[in-house]
Amino acid sequence: MRKEQAVRATFDHRLCVTRNAISPGNASLDRVIGDNRAIVFIDDHLALAQPRLQNDTRNMLSADRHAGTHLVPGGERCKTDVTVFFDIARRIADAGIDRHSHVIAIGGGAVLDVVGFAAATVHRGVRLVRLGSTTLAQADSAVGVKNGINLDGVKNMLGSFAVPVAVINDAELLTTLSDTDWRGGFAEAVKVALIKDAALFNRIEHGIDALNARDLAAAEPIITRSAELHFDHITSGGDPFEQGSARPLDMGHWSAHRLEAMTSFQLRHGDAVAIGLAIDTVYAARLGVLRDDDARRIIGCLCDLGFDLSHPALEDTGGLLVGLEQFREHLGGPLTLILPAGFGATATVHTVDEKLLIDAVRRIADGALSAV
Ligand SMILES: NC(=O)c1ccc[n+]([C@@H]2O[C@H](COP(=O)([O-])OP(=O)(O)OC[C@H]3O[C@@H](n4cnc5c(N)ncnc54)[C@H](O)[C@@H]3O)[C@@H](O)[C@H]2O)c1
Ligand SMILES: [Zn+2]
Repeated sequence: MRKEQAVRATFDHRLCVTRNAISPGNASLDRVIGDNRAIVFIDDHLALAQPRLQNDTRNMLSADRHAGTHLVPGGERCKTDVTVFFDIARRIADAGIDRHSHVIAIGGGAVLDVVGFAAATVHRGVRLVRLGSTTLAQADSAVGVKNGINLDGVKNMLGSFAVPVAVINDAELLTTLSDTDWRGGFAEAVKVALIKDAALFNRIEHGIDALNARDLAAAEPIITRSAELHFDHITSGGDPFEQGSARPLDMGHWSAHRLEAMTSFQLRHGDAVAIGLAIDTVYAARLGVLRDDDARRIIGCLCDLGFDLSHPALEDTGGLLVGLEQFREHLGGPLTLILPAGFGATATVHTVDEKLLIDAVRRIADGALSAV
């Protein structure tokens, strides 16, 4: 006997943009969790910078719904040290969180990834609510359907696809970020603008001074548009769990992930993505799929946003190119890279001209503004 039948399951994905989400007057969280219980995990650097958060989550949930608030070591270390994952999983299990209860993760992309992985595996998956507290998390990772931790230096080697029940973006959480982490999310916004939305690229370009001055009112619409484009791609793009061989939203990421690993995760994801975008931009121009003046505009925008594109790790071009095979292997199937071909336009390639690519990397390493 042989049977074949597609298994279909639908998920509801929600994105809510608000201010002061963790305060009594704001109903965003209440609407999501209703009368159910929730356990809260907060990025420890965020909790230190915004001390009221711990109390406010307790007060908001009140005793009957509050299943504990815990701190998670912020930054990439929480994805690298597997004991952090087990600790979170145990706390979720010990708190009696069932599949109708919620895990609320508040923090940077790294904390959201490790808490999300634990939430996806305890009882084979409990409900997750994400509140990103970095520009990068709000512009990109929080609205995604992926989670993960690193294994033996390889980024996101363990992880799963799991749709959060809700993502709540609150710009007030961003006020205490370091300048580096403030900048990081705009690399992902530039990326998604290059892939999907020329108007967003223009808006970023024109808003650079305000963004660099950390003007929340100027940043919020850019972050929101980036989140919306990621959300729309995931919900309507046809391949939310990446079963094909392409990751259309991961432009620049083959080298970004590799650079992070090569620098033992000293290089932040956002900074690495900016360098990765610069490499793919110069390569695309050298390949002839992107006009030189467009390439110069993209590189200029990344530099003006304050990204330092000429990282010493770029000297090891052999080590960097290992990232191509790791990227291919992560997805399976043929290598598929999405290159910029304009603003809101891309080109897909399945092979790489190594000589041209190494040349592009060297140009970036030597000083990006004259790279094209
Ligand atoms: N799952 C996905 O789809 C996806 C997508 C993109 C990136 N990511 C992952 O996200 C991670 C990077 O996330 P990130 O850029 O948000 O950095 P991060 O999570 O490493 O946070 C950066 C630093 O800022 C601190 N911090 C966070 N919020 C703060 C606040 N409001 N005030 C003060 N300090 C704060 C953190 O503790 C940390 O030290 C990487 O591991 C990356 O792989 C995942
Ligand atoms: Zn990214």
